[in-house]
Amino acid sequence: MHIELIRNGRKSLPLQICEALGYRISSGLLERGVRLPSVRSLAVTLKVSQVTVSKAYAELERRGLINCEQGLGCFVTESEEKKGHEGDGWSRQYSDYLPRAQLWRNFDYSEVAYPFHLAAIHADLLPIGHIGGQMAALVTEQPELMATYGNFQGDLELRDIMRAHLQERGIRLSSSNVMITSGAQQGIDLVARTFVGPGDTVYLEAPSYTGAIDVFAGRGAEMIFVPMDEEGMRVDILTKLCDQRPPKLIYTNPSFQNPSGITMSMARRQRLLELARSYRCLIVEDDPFSDLYFRMPPPPSIKSMDSEGHVVYIKSFSKVLAPGCRIACVAAEGNILSRLIAAKSASDLGSPLLTQRAVLPFISKKYKAYAGQLRTSLRNRMEKAAKLLKQYAPSGVNCVLPEGGLSLWLELPAGSDIMELHALAKQNSISFLPGDVCYSGEEQSTHIRLCYSQMSEADMEQGLMLFLRLLSGFLEQKD
Ligand SMILES: Cc1ncc(COP(=O)(O)O)c(C=O)c1O
Repeated sequence: MHIELIRNGRKSLPLQICEALGYRISSGLLERGVRLPSVRSLAVTLKVSQVTVSKAYAELERRGLINCEQGLGCFVTESEEKKGHEGDGWSRQYSDYLPRAQLWRNFDYSEVAYPFHLAAIHADLLPIGHIGGQMAALVTEQPELMATYGNFQGDLELRDIMRAHLQERGIRLSSSNVMITSGAQQGIDLVARTFVGPGDTVYLEAPSYTGAIDVFAGRGAEMIFVPMDEEGMRVDILTKLCDQRPPKLIYTNPSFQNPSGITMSMARRQRLLELARSYRCLIVEDDPFSDLYFRMPPPPSIKSMDSEGHVVYIKSFSKVLAPGCRIACVAAEGNILSRLIAAKSASDLGSPLLTQRAVLPFISKKYKAYAGQLRTSLRNRMEKAAKLLKQYAPSGVNCVLPEGGLSLWLELPAGSDIMELHALAKQNSISFLPGDVCYSGEEQSTHIRLCYSQMSEADMEQGLMLFLRLLSGFLEQKD
């Protein structure tokens, strides 16, 4: 069994082993009843002492994930959620380098009537009719688009439109500085696979976007989560941490952050950039929500202040146009960008031309007016959700209402067992994102993320009322 260990990291080796196995168990990859390797054999495989493995197993047992019996070995006790796959005995043992992404992938929400877990926008609010019409016209009028690969960096016309779009946000670059990716997720992945390797230190906000955590974990990075306050990432704390462990990369989602909804202040943005300059490192500014403000636009992007190419700016159009089109752009300079283009070509030889061309006219001509309407609709939704929270949320449940974005970050009373609540919600056809997945794994979060824009308004209201009633019962029963 392969486990990527960071020998001189902040986390002890037993904890790293415990977490790696814990993820495999929670994700269902190691199923109930499976026998873990013996202490001795795992110690040999991982080139650690037997004491280290014993400590890891003791911690897994303490967490209730395995059960160890003298003379027989240690057996997985959890992963009830996951059904077994027949005949995959060999593949279960086949080593992988995605220690965390399994957790995310294995939440199966397909049957859920009230999907609050996904940070997305209901189809009725998206311009998919327009984009679909454009797509149909392209297929019939320009079928040759499907007969070519196109440019690895992205369609030139779309890049130019993206350049203009970014310019309106103060980012002054040429279209040669823009690359089209298959969603922001691919942008994050390309940066990570290009610049982050095992043991490199990556700083993130605590909590952070779970998809980014998965990517950095998959690279074997040492992730350090920096606390936030109402102005965003605590750059004073980050500075102290960087003195001990210089950053290879800082990942931030500064506007209407996923999941907390917090927006980083201008002062913090400036200080973060100064810090990156002094440590000669990259900032990944992941900015999918900046157009989705309710009252005031967020402060200028960090990229707009960046004169030395420290910021890789990633702008997704999934949250505002059509996630199914998988369109995002990455803005960067010099050899940072050229290495990212090399990674993009190695990854997929370029994003599909058809979808790039399908979104192009909308972004260039209609986006501005549409974004204004979308903001109004989302604000109405958020206010409806907030009203229900005020009316029905049990005492001890707190939520700072966001000024933009798509979700609510609810704090439940200390000691609440979020996974138990998650299972209960699922039985009632409701899903939410448990806060734990927004951290590195060792924290026991009492937060949950609920997205108010993913369903029709009526479903959102019905589902939220149902959930809040469920939550009240759940907390009462715990008292
Ligand atoms: C902060 C953040 N970054 C990136 C992504 C991924 O977006 P995309 O659909 O563009 O890959 C998400 C999706 O939820 C997100 O919340």
